[in-house]
Amino acid sequence: MLPALVFLALAAFAAALLWSPHAGRAAALHLILAVGAMPLIFGAMGHFIPVLTRTRSAPSALAILPVLALAGGALVVAALGFPGMLWGQPAGALLAVTAAGALFVWSRRRRAGMLGRPHPCLAWYEAALACLVAALLAILASALWPQQASALRRLHLHLNTLGFVGLTAMGTLAVLLPTVAGRPHPQTGPRLRRDLSWAVAGTLLVALGAAWYGPLAWVGGALWTIPPARLAAGWLRSCRVEIVALHGAAPLLAAALAGLVGSAMLGAVNAIPATATLHSLQPAWAFVAGFILPLVSGAASQLLPVWLRPGVQDGWHVRLRDNLGRYGGARAVLFGIAGGAAGIGREWGLLLGAVTLILFLLQACVALAQALIVRPRSPS
Ligand code: HEM
Repeated sequence: MLPALVFLALAAFAAALLWSPHAGRAAALHLILAVGAMPLIFGAMGHFIPVLTRTRSAPSALAILPVLALAGGALVVAALGFPGMLWGQPAGALLAVTAAGALFVWSRRRRAGMLGRPHPCLAWYEAALACLVAALLAILASALWPQQASALRRLHLHLNTLGFVGLTAMGTLAVLLPTVAGRPHPQTGPRLRRDLSWAVAGTLLVALGAAWYGPLAWVGGALWTIPPARLAAGWLRSCRVEIVALHGAAPLLAAALAGLVGSAMLGAVNAIPATATLHSLQPAWAFVAGFILPLVSGAASQLLPVWLRPGVQDGWHVRLRDNLGRYGGARAVLFGIAGGAAGIGREWGLLLGAVTLILFLLQACVALAQALIVRPRSPS
């Protein structure tokens, strides 16, 4: 299921980027975020939550949740793309909120049933799911409260980007990059525990401030940058060699963190009325090209082998991981340029992001064909 969600997400990203000059901006963004990213995040959480709680793997019935989320995402894309389908917005929100709520409840049950304390990354996932639920309730509320629709849209946007996707990514990156670099970091757990309150408070203040009271958003933005700044400082001390490399997933994961912070800063600059009229800034496109694309392609390079063949890791996994991560450093630079250009409103930035992503998709198909067909599992 997870490898299928990875390829579905990568295909949705590429299709949306190529479609974006012709489609409405909101429809193309939701094809990336609600059809591509949301179901993949649900699938990944279903895989990681048992690891974080040291409990048995997820029951197969849990696979229904990414499917529900996917149906919700598809409905919202249709509703935003075709004016006659307006009912798709509340229907999509209802499906997605049901799936997010169910995943949250399941996570809490796993937490309650485990022995000892869970890994602190679990709290980041639960906070991210709570942000998604609140963001979707904001869309449902705007149907009942149309005079607040514009404020609720801003609430939805920030709770989803900084909250749902941002918190999930920061929790995952903090654990994943040291694993990729082969340098487990003793400070990761305590730092995650310490930083969650800053990230959650920052997200809530930015979202509420952007919706109703601007000055709050500036305070929130300052708080929100503390965790990624500390994370980046830790990485630069311990994993610099792996990050500044031509190959591997580490450069992509580091580029993703830089893209997340960069797009948030662009959003802040865009909120200053004087600068918004000077440039046509596009923080949402910087978020997609500079953050989502390196994040998903980097995480996929590291995790696809274990998702395809869980259990004992052998030479097959190492070879496939090497092939998926080849030229990861060059891809990270190209995604960085694409995100920067898309963020300042240059259409070629999205095209560069799409081409880089399609090249990775082709590389992944060849690597998988070699691993699964040409060189099947050697007898152990
Ligand atoms: C699946 C249920 C969802 C529904 C029903 C929904 C609905 C909406 C609606 C109605 C808007 C306003 C569109 C407009 O201004 O024309 C919007 C905006 C937005 N949503 Fe969602 N959304 C959903 C999921 C998501 C997810 C999962 C994300 C991110 C992870 C997301 C991110 C955004 C962003 C960034 C915007 C601002 C778009 C822009 O600036 O044009 N949404 N959403």
